[in-house]
Amino acid sequence: MTASSVTGRTATARTGAGAPGVRDAAPLSFRGIARSFPAADGDQPVLRDIGLDVAAGDIVAILGPSGCGKSTLLRIAGGLDRPTRGDVTIDGSPVAPFDPRSAVGFQEPRLLPWRSIAGNVALGLPRGTPRAAGRELVARLLDLVGLAAFAGHRPREVSGGMAQRASLARALARNPGVLLLDEPFGALDALTRLKMQDLLLDVHAAAPTTVLLVTHDVDEALQLADRIILLGPEGEEPGAVIRQTVVVPGRRPRDRGSAELAELRGRLLDGLGIDRHGAARGIASTTTIPHYPY
Ligand SMILES: Nc1ncnc2c1ncn2[C@@H]1O[C@H](COP(=O)(O)OP(=O)(O)OP(=O)(O)O)[C@@H](O)[C@H]1O
Ligand SMILES: [Mg+2]
Repeated sequence: MTASSVTGRTATARTGAGAPGVRDAAPLSFRGIARSFPAADGDQPVLRDIGLDVAAGDIVAILGPSGCGKSTLLRIAGGLDRPTRGDVTIDGSPVAPFDPRSAVGFQEPRLLPWRSIAGNVALGLPRGTPRAAGRELVARLLDLVGLAAFAGHRPREVSGGMAQRASLARALARNPGVLLLDEPFGALDALTRLKMQDLLLDVHAAAPTTVLLVTHDVDEALQLADRIILLGPEGEEPGAVIRQTVVVPGRRPRDRGSAELAELRGRLLDGLGIDRHGAARGIASTTTIPHYPY
């Protein structure tokens, strides 16, 4: 399936902001981002001086200990939160509150139980989408995520993985230049999770969009991302910075068992303070990332 057959994108059919149909993958930039939250003993810095450029169509994964500010950074990118300092831009212009150029996908599918799967996906359509065009796009997206046969089902009538696929389709219905995913597969079982990773790659190949993906799963990051950003505290100063950037080699889909990825996995686990053999500093699993502050 081509990009234009999935999203209705064509080179000439560009329409205005908020209009349905066409939005190209857009570059996303963070410049000097800091975010503090008020606490009992004064402001608590969560992020300090984050600078990051995500090129149009790239997939960048963010890894880091729980509580280090990953979701906060994602929310800032989507205009759901404002930084205390710094600028975030999409395609060179500042991100607006609830910016229509991006869409956010969460760990829980957040579907409306009284709406059908198709009705939930349609909620993602930009305001003003003509009815027929909207119906056609929803049908194409349901087909893309393998839910065409379940369009009329209610969320309670489908599995967790199917609900999460519907949630992904709803985000794509917004036709985002930037797709922001916050642990989108975190609540799924291991096998469904692997299938969802493949699905995301299929979707990305069919309708390339810029993706910023927060995950706790080192292997997921290695499978999906062009680049992995390790976020976390450094030195005495409070607040997370980008501690490490790893460029992942190889075209996707990648061989999960390759020696090259195994070497990178080791480096990332080291960076996260996790013992490669399972005994993290007080943590018992290689897949569990410690909490911050730890
Ligand atoms: N609206 C808010 N008001 C006050 N504190 C907040 C707010 N949002 C986030 N925080 C604090 O900011 C810190 C980072 O939170 P965030 O949700 O970004 O972490 P995270 O890295 O996504 O964690 P996890 O991996 O557990 O999802 C936490 O200490 C959290 O309590
Ligand atoms: Mg989070």
